Amino acid sequence: MSSPAEILDWDPARREELGRAALDWVLGWFDAVGERPVYPEVSARWLEAGLSATLPLDPQDIRTVVDEFAAHVVAGSRDNGHPRMFGYVQSSGTFVGAVADFLASALNQNVTSWRSAPAATTVERQVVGWLRDIVGFEGDGLLVSGGSMANFVALMAATAAAHPEVARRGVRALTGDPVVYASSMTHMSIPKAAAMAGLGRDAVRRVPVDAELEMDAAALDRAIGDDRRAGRVPICVVANAGDVNTGAIDPIDALADVCARHQVWLHADAAYGGFAVLAPSVRERFAGLARVDSMSLDPHKWLFVPVDCGCVLVRDPSALRRAFSYSADYVDVVSSPDMSEYAFWDYGPELTRRFRALKIWMAFKAYGVRAIAAAIERNIQLARRLAELVDESDDFERLAPVPLGIVCFRYAGGGGDLNARNRELLLRVQRGGKAYLSNAMIGDAFALRACIVNHRTTEGDLAVLLDEIRRSARTVE
Ligand SMILES: Cc1ncc(COP(=O)(O)O)c(C=O)c1O
Repeated sequence: MSSPAEILDWDPARREELGRAALDWVLGWFDAVGERPVYPEVSARWLEAGLSATLPLDPQDIRTVVDEFAAHVVAGSRDNGHPRMFGYVQSSGTFVGAVADFLASALNQNVTSWRSAPAATTVERQVVGWLRDIVGFEGDGLLVSGGSMANFVALMAATAAAHPEVARRGVRALTGDPVVYASSMTHMSIPKAAAMAGLGRDAVRRVPVDAELEMDAAALDRAIGDDRRAGRVPICVVANAGDVNTGAIDPIDALADVCARHQVWLHADAAYGGFAVLAPSVRERFAGLARVDSMSLDPHKWLFVPVDCGCVLVRDPSALRRAFSYSADYVDVVSSPDMSEYAFWDYGPELTRRFRALKIWMAFKAYGVRAIAAAIERNIQLARRLAELVDESDDFERLAPVPLGIVCFRYAGGGGDLNARNRELLLRVQRGGKAYLSNAMIGDAFALRACIVNHRTTEGDLAVLLDEIRRSARTVE
């Protein structure tokens, strides 16, 4: 009878067999980037049939399992690293990042605190320091699962800062209804964060935007003043530093002035756009970013690291402690002078945490930040080129400015109901598998949204995208 350890750890030969099969698959996957369809030709019924099975109580041959992974899991996956994956602001992924995640899982650190994971904690503290330096911010923070969680953590910190009793008594400690200010372009994670923080989605007040889709600082000023006079409690202003729809960057410096005047917390949602400070052509657009009270960043967007990896930075980390620090006997840090008492659970919602920092640490060392900066700049130049191609054409129409790497446009050839036509086009292009787009509403106009957040995209890919939309347009009656 084999022991559980023998059964679950396998012997070296079997480990090597699986490890080599996995490495072969990964190498093949990266070798063929761009050759596969962006979107798989699969139906929900086919996937359910292929992947449904009874609970596997007994072991199966591992080669069969790997084959099943390739036949159904891989075949049923969108290729997010494809150079013509224009769908979302998301990670194109790298080989180094994939290897780092593999190493992190093998090392299996539980990054709760220095005591539990001395090296991983030190690496994460180093990486957070690097990210902070990149965006020129003074403060501290931690890695979280992504931008949504970073926004939530920041909103919790802002709420805790609004009243010292909130963490204990909840929002009933506040002297009036809480208000969170955000532009109409704000990511959906902000109302979700308001709901999770107990403020409620209705607490989010939409501040109008100007013609560039940037928050109107004067309107914000008036709204905060009105709310204060009515006895409401302004909690936080959320500035877009690269909005998810168009890449709009709110006038952060002007918003910081308003917030300073009213003594309100300013958060920058820089999950998508923040790392564009590395790109010389747009750097000055982020003036004021150093003045915010907190900031969300997503290394799993424009640092090209694999999901999941977000970061929240806060100027005054005691606000995080106020929101999250809570102790229990079983986590009491018993330490000696050689040990650090640092514990991530004092600064964020998670206790058990994976070693997310390793993929940033390895990527920065393997590529150098200069190469990553050049890739971001290249993406921005490509977005400008796509905007030019749209503007120069007779059949496309651009619907929004292009401050970063997102182009919102529509096919206007053929006339008719442009919203209905472009909705149909979007589906056809997605299903065609040559390029993948998403959508946004710009006012009342349905826009095709091309996001260039991918170090593999070239100018040739832009031409293929436009050709593909035109080709699809010919198939729409
Ligand atoms: C501006 C912005 N904020 C927040 C998020 C949410 O990030 P995540 O998907 O990592 O939770 C996104 C995602 O696209 C975003 O673009």
